Parts: sequence; C-alpha cells; structure tokens
Amino acid sequence: MKKVRWGLLSTANVNRHLIPAIRASDRSELVAVASRSQERADSYADKWGISKTFGSYEALLSSGAVDAVYVSLPNHLHAEWTVRALHSGLHVLCEKPFTISMREMDAVVEAAEESGKIVSEAFMYRHHPQTRTVGQWVRSGRLGEISVVRGVFNFKIQDRENVRLAPEFGGGSLWDVGIYLISFAQYVFGGAPTTVSGMQWLGPSGVDESFVGQMSYPSGGLAQISSSFRAPAQAEVDVIGTEGRLHLSRPFVGMETGAFTFYPVEGEAQIIDVPQQQLYLGEVEDMNAAILDGATPLISLQETRDHVRTAHALYAAARSGQTITL
Ligand SMILES: NC(=O)c1ccc[n+]([C@@H]2O[C@H](COP(=O)([O-])OP(=O)(O)OC[C@H]3O[C@@H](n4cnc5c(N)ncnc54)[C@H](OP(=O)(O)O)[C@@H]3O)[C@@H](O)[C@H]2O)c1
Repeated sequence: MKKVRWGLLSTANVNRHLIPAIRASDRSELVAVASRSQERADSYADKWGISKTFGSYEALLSSGAVDAVYVSLPNHLHAEWTVRALHSGLHVLCEKPFTISMREMDAVVEAAEESGKIVSEAFMYRHHPQTRTVGQWVRSGRLGEISVVRGVFNFKIQDRENVRLAPEFGGGSLWDVGIYLISFAQYVFGGAPTTVSGMQWLGPSGVDESFVGQMSYPSGGLAQISSSFRAPAQAEVDVIGTEGRLHLSRPFVGMETGAFTFYPVEGEAQIIDVPQQQLYLGEVEDMNAAILDGATPLISLQETRDHVRTAHALYAAARSGQTITL
C-alpha cells in the first residue's frame, strides 16, 4: 500500500477540516463518503469532489474501497461505528469525545486488539507544533515544577435543537469542549489525575451547559477547567510553574500567530513563535505513518481511555458532590 485510501463516515460539518488535510498529505487520498441517505452522500460527493458514495455506513465498511475511515458521527455513535469499522478490517480516526462510557471504551480497546488495526482519537491540536512546544517547555524544566494548569473552553449555543444539548446523543459541555481541557492537563502532567471534583449547571434538557472541574495529579500538580455553552466564544490555557507561566490564547484552534506567551517569575513577557502547520494535517499524517510504516500513533488508547475515565469521574463528582478518586 502506497497511499491510505480514506472514507468519511457521515456528511458531518467537521469533515470540512479533514477533507483538505487528507488531500494535503501525499500519503493519503479521499475516495469515499457514506451517509444514512444515498441522496445526501451523492450531493456531498458532488460538492467536495469525492468519487465513491454509499447510502449506508455499513455499505462503505464492507465495500473494500477504503483502508481507513474518519468517524465524525454524533458522540453516542462513535464507539459502535469504530468497533464495526475495526471488525471490518479498517483503521479508524475517531472524533472526540472518543466514547461516552467506559463500557464503550473497553469495547473499542478489545476490537483494536482483536483486529490489529490502528485506532486513534482525533485531537488535532495535540499534533500542532504549538502543543509540542508546550510539552518541550514543561519537560525541559524551564517552567520549574508545574503547579497548576488552568483552562477554559466556552461558546454559545443559540439553537436549542443542537445535538450538543441532547443527553441521548452524549451532549454536554464537558463531553463537547471540556474534554479538550482534560486532555491538555493530562498531556502536561504526563498522565491521568488521581482525584477530581466538579460542579455543573444543568440546562432544561438535562445536560451540563456549564461545567467547572478540578483535578489533582500524582506530582501534586492541580488543574482547574471550565466549559460552557452559555458564554461568548473563548478558549485559553495557562500552564503555571514555579519558574514561569505559559499563556495560550489559542490553545486548540487558530494558533497562527502570537498565540503563546511566556511570563517569567521576573522580567518581561516574551511572545514565543512556533512553526506553523495546517491544524488537521498532523492527525492524518500520524495515522498514515501508523498504517504505512508501523509507527506508534501519537495518542495511545491508554491515553484516550484516561480522557474518558477522567470525564466520567468529573461527572460522577458533580452528581454526587463528592471528590472522586480515580
Ligand atoms: N475536532 C474538531 O475540531 C471538531 C469540531 C467539531 C465537531 N467535532 C466532533 O465531530 C463530531 C461531529 O460533529 P459535527 O458538529 O460535525 O456534527 P454534525 O454536523 O451534526 O454531523 C453529524 C453527522 O452524523 C450523521 N448522523 C448519524 N446519525 C445521526 C443522528 N441520529 N442525528 C444526527 N446526525 C446523525 C449525519 O450524517 P449523515 O446524515 O450523512 O449520515 C450528520 O451529518 C462530534 O463528535 C463532535 O464532537 C470535532
């Protein structure tokens, strides 16, 4: 195999980011799209110039036309279709949140082991040079000991029909955007938290429209995160160490220029330049390297399992009002 043949599992909005990334890589080609409706698949394929269409997800999986699929379905369908794709002998890049229960997570791990295929969580920001630079600063000790990771990810949902408000679709602000902050803190601290506590504001549909969580890590470091559907758009992260603080004004998207500032304990703030890269290209190249060269994917299933485990524990903490030990 010289190039990975990709298929899209659904006509989701988010595909508009992956399509240019698959096409920007000379190691992959986009060959197919599947939708619940043949008509929708056909018109989507016309719009994006995709050669093969399928009127059901199953038809794409059993077609032999692709080597890998991008799962961009609503959250509650991620696990089911990831498992089905793996059992069909396909590699999978699956959107966040990877699964919305530990039972689903374990089913994916089992299917990955049985099939021997690659499966990875689509956290595009983890592949961006800015995030890698933060990791180098942390691990080099330039920030001293990391005391606190503080992050916020908010936006406003205007349309009450949005699936992010539907509990049966795995809705909720923590699952939708708070999961980025869980992942960022875990990346900085190098593993899952040991204890978590949380509070949530439940909207009329019963999902958390705002969530505030706190986590403690084995090093003694702490994280404080908040996510909301009831606020103007904002995403920021501070990585606070004993020798300085990194402020990321665009930690997850739009990190083109001047998004990353170092505040030393003494002296002037410095804007840190980082190399640029098309945001969604890294996750595609990571999958291509794993499939074609046998490379290890950047985000391991253990790491992904810890993201899901932490979100679960935060929800349990918010429901019970107790601090939860993982
Ligand atoms: N990484 C990122 O930057 C990023 C950004 C946005 C979203 N996401 C994630 O990507 C996933 C998709 O989000 P999105 O906003 O792109 O979703 P969306 O536009 O609502 O698309 C979801 C697609 O799923 C299919 N689908 C299957 N069953 C469905 C059902 N019962 N109801 C509705 N749609 C159904 C539909 O495609 P067909 O009708 O063609 O089958 C639909 O187009 C989510 O998990 C989200 O968290 C990630």
